Amino acid sequence: MKQLELLYSGKAKSVYRTENPAELVIKFRDDITAFDGEKKDTLADKGSLNAGVSIFFFGLLEKNGIKTHYIRKIDDSTMVARNLTMIPLEVIVRNIAAGSIVKNYPIEKGTPLNPPVIVIDFKDDTHHDPMLNDDLIYALKLSTPDELRVIKQIALGVNNVLRDYLDGRGIDLVDFKLEFGKKDGIIYVGDEISMDSMRLWDKKTGESLDKDVYRTGLGDVITSYHRVARRIIDGH
Ligand code: TYD
Repeated sequence: MKQLELLYSGKAKSVYRTENPAELVIKFRDDITAFDGEKKDTLADKGSLNAGVSIFFFGLLEKNGIKTHYIRKIDDSTMVARNLTMIPLEVIVRNIAAGSIVKNYPIEKGTPLNPPVIVIDFKDDTHHDPMLNDDLIYALKLSTPDELRVIKQIALGVNNVLRDYLDGRGIDLVDFKLEFGKKDGIIYVGDEISMDSMRLWDKKTGESLDKDVYRTGLGDVITSYHRVARRIIDGH
């Protein structure tokens, strides 16, 4: 497997072409950002911690019959993934109110959301990722009604698998963000599923175990990521 030229560099991952047009190399970097890129840092080990958890969750989803872009691991911070046509949607599933829903709506942090709430943002930096609704998604031709139905169904399936798994590890899955891509008419879960893209609360203490540690500046991000990665992957 030869890693060829850089195709795309996001806020925390770099994507490379390979000799196989059906496969990409995705490298998780040590960069971390928040608040639309206003806060930025580079933290040693962050890339490999997020890669490890993402690879673990992709494996767990595959075992549960959910298709993901993950193919194989190259090293601690790098994986091979399917080359998909990405759908520019950020699909957020919320089980407990936190973050932007608390900021923008009259709902108290910690309120259980049952059934879970799906919120979909437009992945478009120039417009600061505005929230969409189904009609806007069709008007902007971001997906068809059939695709959107499948996307929501997969997102809720992912939520069930991750929520049950994390519950068994003493962790509440508060919310998380997924991105999807298509290949030959099949929709796959893409991107990452890591501490950067989820909110995780310790069930006993309520402590944040995710990127909120960085957003709030209230703790040592890497110590916290190490601890939660161990809990998720090794169960202790
Ligand atoms: P949300 O509360 O909407 O935004 P913020 O992270 O700015 O408080 O986020 C809900 C979840 O989705 C949270 O776990 C972080 C994740 N997320 C991303 O990974 N990337 C994004 O661009 C957004 C908006 C959310």
